[in-house]
Amino acid sequence: MSQETVTIIDNTTGKRVELPIVRGTQGPAGIDVRTLNRELGLLTFDPGFLSTAHCRSALTFIDGEQGVLLYRGYPIEQLAAQSSYLEVCYLLLYGDLPTKPQMREFQSIILHHTMVHEGLRRFYSGFRHDAHPMAIMVGVVGALSAFYHDSTDIHDPRHREISAHRLIAKMPTIAADSYKYSIGQPFIYPDNALGYAENFLRTMFAVPAEPYKVKPAAARALELFLILHADHEQNASTATVRLAGSSGANPFACISAGIGALWGPAHGGANEAVIRMLETIRDPAEIPQYITRAKDKDDAFRLMGFGHRIYKQYDPRAKILRQACHDLLKEIGAEHQPLFETALELERIALQDDYFLERRLYPNVDFYSGIILKAIGIPIPMFTVLFAMARTVGWVAQWMEMMEDAEQRIGRPRQIYVGPARRDYMPLEERE
Ligand code: ACO
Repeated sequence: MSQETVTIIDNTTGKRVELPIVRGTQGPAGIDVRTLNRELGLLTFDPGFLSTAHCRSALTFIDGEQGVLLYRGYPIEQLAAQSSYLEVCYLLLYGDLPTKPQMREFQSIILHHTMVHEGLRRFYSGFRHDAHPMAIMVGVVGALSAFYHDSTDIHDPRHREISAHRLIAKMPTIAADSYKYSIGQPFIYPDNALGYAENFLRTMFAVPAEPYKVKPAAARALELFLILHADHEQNASTATVRLAGSSGANPFACISAGIGALWGPAHGGANEAVIRMLETIRDPAEIPQYITRAKDKDDAFRLMGFGHRIYKQYDPRAKILRQACHDLLKEIGAEHQPLFETALELERIALQDDYFLERRLYPNVDFYSGIILKAIGIPIPMFTVLFAMARTVGWVAQWMEMMEDAEQRIGRPRQIYVGPARRDYMPLEERE
């Protein structure tokens, strides 16, 4: 088959260029514009990357029109119902579901790398006690490169793999430590006899003075949360990780950059913002006035947990989490939890409103995730930290994929310059 192309004609100069079309296995094709600047002296202009594919990737596929999310081809609904977080980690890192021996080995590697260097733990005391745990995460994860520099030769595939294992294994410990530090409790060492989610809950909530038993319902809910947040193709934080990695930075520095990007309320910080919004709406009768505010362009208020750059219908993760909220709250005897009732009512009213329907704004993953996290006792400032913990595998798998990609070059966007044209410097004494 001959190469599919698109012809671009510059109507000012009459010059033309044939650009190849790049197709993946599914989803929209792209126009390969790499020669555009050389041939026509033009750039593409795409703030927010609305029409830009910045890499080829075999990890995650999203069909925003149909509400489809696949990890390495597997539907998120099947993984959520049947898989485990560590199995999903293996799938994302290595491309296929593991065999039983592969799974046993992977589990053992991850569960035996959960401790962090003692020197890293002393690092925490440099932070103010009331620091946001995401601020601590950015610092401590970046600092990992100072403690594990035996695995930062990014050109060695084995080093890359060890770094990936370390990041996945140590992230829950670092996350729990950031919480313990903020409340003045001693750090709890991981217990490698426990599973990934159980271990995290124990390091978060146990105290040395008392026995602690992980609640199975909490561990199951957390496991689901982790699976649903494991990867989501080229979002802001993942693109940040790739951009940082494209310069040859070490993986710990790249993941730290990703954590910083995730923190914002338009991205991972939305799960915290949703709960704060639902808590502000004290009475469901107040919902219409919040909807009115969300529609008002002169008001900065947005309905948090609503809307998505790619999903133009219900986010499939939100659908799973809404049902999980029902199940979990029933199991723990909190069926009429006011925040959940407010969320359901808010969704009902918004999805009858032309403003949301016309713009195709539906609940996203963050709309219901905070209710689950709150129900299992996670404090609100830790919500985005848990998102970072879950997404670490996606970030590091994307980084590894990029490092093996022959097309990879340093990420260096261009710009349309709108500042002053060349002008001469005037000495201060001559200026009026
Ligand atoms: N409430 C009210 N109006 C909204 C909302 C919202 N939550 N989201 C989008 N809109 C409106 C915009 O004002 C815009 O209206 P206009 O066409 O009249 O100007 C239109 O819908 C399109 O919105 P954009 O901001 O252009 O969409 P974009 O793709 O750039 O942004 C985003 C997507 C950031 C998720 C946005 O919907 C938003 O801010 N949502 C709330 C924050 C949130 O929940 N973030 C989590 C996203 S999921 C994740 O990162 C894990």
